[in-house]
Amino acid sequence: MYKITTIGGDGIGPEVMEGAIAILEILDLNFDFIEMEAGKGCLKKNGTTIPEETIKSAKKSHATLFGAITTVDNEKSPIIVLRKNLDVYGNLRPVKSFEGIDCLYPNLEFYIVRENTEGLYCEIEYCCEDEKTAVSHRVITKKASEKIIDFTFKQASENKREKVTCIHKANVLKKTDGLFKKIFYKIAKNYPNIKAEDYYVDAMAMYLVQKPEDFDYIVTTNLFGDILSDEAAGLVGGLGLAPSGNIGDKHGLFEPVHGSAPDIAGKKISNPIAMILSSAMMLDFLNEKYYANQIRIAVENVLKKKKIATPDLGGCDKTMDVANAVINELKNVL
Ligand code: NAI
Ligand code: MG
Repeated sequence: MYKITTIGGDGIGPEVMEGAIAILEILDLNFDFIEMEAGKGCLKKNGTTIPEETIKSAKKSHATLFGAITTVDNEKSPIIVLRKNLDVYGNLRPVKSFEGIDCLYPNLEFYIVRENTEGLYCEIEYCCEDEKTAVSHRVITKKASEKIIDFTFKQASENKREKVTCIHKANVLKKTDGLFKKIFYKIAKNYPNIKAEDYYVDAMAMYLVQKPEDFDYIVTTNLFGDILSDEAAGLVGGLGLAPSGNIGDKHGLFEPVHGSAPDIAGKKISNPIAMILSSAMMLDFLNEKYYANQIRIAVENVLKKKKIATPDLGGCDKTMDVANAVINELKNVL
């Protein structure tokens, strides 16, 4: 029996979560889904964007599924609180194109690994007394850098990929990114069969558009990883198809890359595939690789057939139509 904390959140979060859970429920696995709250709606109801019970439940579960939340000014970001509390330091974001999806690059498969616990997301910010200056701290530690870089090389080695690319801005951020880059080449020595290279983040923003097929695994700090992964999602069909896993030594938290999409929330037309593929990543984490792969095959089949699709992919179907199409495909492949 797997205890899974589910946090739908705000906007399209609960819709895509419903689709993913419907799929997990047909597998021959035993899940106990524990529904918890976080986000803007939760703040209105409970006075906090992330109640203690939500954090406790996530800590006690085998894994957590997270939909999306709407950010509230001057309030804690639930996803950042969860990532820190669960110490899920590795944010693994696959970038993959699918047959049937009209996109810039039809044959891509690479991975962005984003450091998840520090950098500019430490939330150490203040306004000076004169209120004319605001300051944000960017913290890079040896410990967190070693962990994320080693995590990336391990993933690359397990997946038999050739190269890890380190992204930084060490020409300007000489201390912080200087440290990150130095640690990168130190760890790279432990993986002699994997090629190591580095680029500045501004150049990388261009290379991702010009030659994305050149990359296998990309490792970078928190903010750069956040930005580059949305850019990368744009190469392969958009945010509706982009899953992610937040992985630590003990815990795993799985969520689509997208946010709460207020522009389409409530219409039930959000694409659930990013959330469904995130739940497949959760099954990988739980070592249920067979079911994880079957879900991916079922999703690929739905996309390939192009019969059912939400508006972001040019269709006119609803969130649950897509989820049900995946269920039907899954029944054929299980
Ligand atoms: P967003 O990712 O919510 O939406 C960007 C665009 O992509 C919108 O046009 C949206 O309609 C579309 N889109 C996103 N997911 C989609 C899906 N599954 N199916 C179809 N279309 C989809 O980013 P945005 O608009 O910048 O942020 C909205 C809110 O979400 C903000 O409050 C933001 O802070 C929050 N946010 C939360 C995240 C999280 O919960 N982890 C991550 C990113 C943003
Ligand atoms: Mg983002």
